[in-house]
Amino acid sequence: MNEDKESLFIMTEARGFFADSKPTHDWAHVLRVHNLCMHIGRIEGADLNILSHAAYLHDVGRCFEERDISICHAEKGAAIARDIMVRAGMGKDVIEAVVHCIRSHRFRNENVPSTLEAKILYDADKLDAIGAIGIARAYSYAGEHNQMLVSDFESDYGSDLKVDHSDHSPIKEYKVKLSKIKDRMLTGEGKRMAEERDAFMRRYFSRLQQECNGEL
Ligand SMILES: [Fe+2]
Repeated sequence: MNEDKESLFIMTEARGFFADSKPTHDWAHVLRVHNLCMHIGRIEGADLNILSHAAYLHDVGRCFEERDISICHAEKGAAIARDIMVRAGMGKDVIEAVVHCIRSHRFRNENVPSTLEAKILYDADKLDAIGAIGIARAYSYAGEHNQMLVSDFESDYGSDLKVDHSDHSPIKEYKVKLSKIKDRMLTGEGKRMAEERDAFMRRYFSRLQQECNGEL
């Protein structure tokens, strides 16, 4: 296969895993992560071919984790991606590079993103959780799980990452998790974009508080 056909094959195969996805983790999320990867990849001088395949394939394991929480979508996705790339007839070096990106995009335990392409995929996936799109996804997730629309703005919610839906809201999600993402970026352009998106979220939640207080 030439590069264009290979890319189309990868994209078509990957898309098949999102038939029953929820809006917070659907195929549109994958396309946004792909756009971010291409933008950051060009600036940081990454291998765009590896990065493109990794972006399209990075969440193919997600539907399995949603059905069974004991399955790690990064590990499962890496195995599925390997099979798809073998069927596409791709070279071993490219396959291993893409598999590393997918396996480490969650950055838990020993799976540290160690290549430039893996760091960019990690940053792109995190960037889609913040900024205007991050707020949209947080409210969509809150709706899926019947969370509160608005909770106390002044509470110190601590840093407990476990989510009890009956006591959770996008405000708490922002304070506990989303506001810290900017400090965990791995590339220069990723960090710059995360700080910009974070500043927007700060403005948004400050305005929301003023509206809820009847001040605006
Ligand atoms: Fe993702």
